[in-house]
Amino acid sequence: MNRAWLGSIVLALAMTSACSRHAAGPAEAPPKAFGAALVLVSGDKQAAGVGSALDQPVVVQVNDEKGTTVAGALVRFAGAGGVIFDPDRGLTGSDGQFTTNVSLGGVHGLYRIVAATKNSSGKAAEIRIDEIALGYQETLGKQVSDIHCVRCHDSESTPERVSNHDNLIAQAHSFTDGAILNAMSDADLAAIIGHGGAALGKSAEMPPYGNTLTKPEIDALIGLLRALADPPYRPQGIFYAGR
Ligand code: HEC
Repeated sequence: MNRAWLGSIVLALAMTSACSRHAAGPAEAPPKAFGAALVLVSGDKQAAGVGSALDQPVVVQVNDEKGTTVAGALVRFAGAGGVIFDPDRGLTGSDGQFTTNVSLGGVHGLYRIVAATKNSSGKAAEIRIDEIALGYQETLGKQVSDIHCVRCHDSESTPERVSNHDNLIAQAHSFTDGAILNAMSDADLAAIIGHGGAALGKSAEMPPYGNTLTKPEIDALIGLLRALADPPYRPQGIFYAGR
């Protein structure tokens, strides 16, 4: 057998095995235990720019029938539309939890991802987790909101970790509150943001931003509210995990 020919076979074999490894991902650790249910610990409903990583990891937990955490259970993540999980599978730790970092795909919209585990008889338990990829304008809206709005409209935290939400008399709704915000037209949103609560006969605790923000910034905020709405404002652009 001539050497060059042998060399090309070795190369071809090396390439085939490299490709199949790539397709299958790293060798999967076999589960050491099985649970009956998956619950979300943290990391759903985050919004990040298209193609970028979510700020917080997604953490899920495997429980048995009694609700006790299960260590060593296999968890797999799946998503469509170019979502990347790092890692996409693995065993739960001693606390019964599995953590993954998520990067969203290149198209803005809602990404519905799935985490799954199997019980000892092979029956799958899964949970769906929603994340939102913001387009360019919506990302600008988020930057403006982080500076001017979240301190009243987000009860949990702001980039500075302070919230004024609980000190308000009138209720400033979360920007994810589709039940309230989907009922408001773009014109009403522009009016309340530009002229304050009084413009719509609402509380003056909602300040006017017409002198602080430009029209493109107010349009970007409206785009953000539409993108974050749950239930969705427009049902297009939803990426469901493949089954
Ligand atoms: C100082 C606190 C405060 C800040 C800052 C603030 N808001 Fe508000 N906002 C309110 C309150 C209070 C209401 C509820 C008014 C009512 O229902 O009478 C409200 C209402 C709204 C509403 C109507 C829907 C709802 O939640 O009831 C929109 C839309 C809105 N604000 C957008 C914004 C945007 C966009 C920003 C940032 C540019 C912002 N707000 C900043 C306090 C605030």
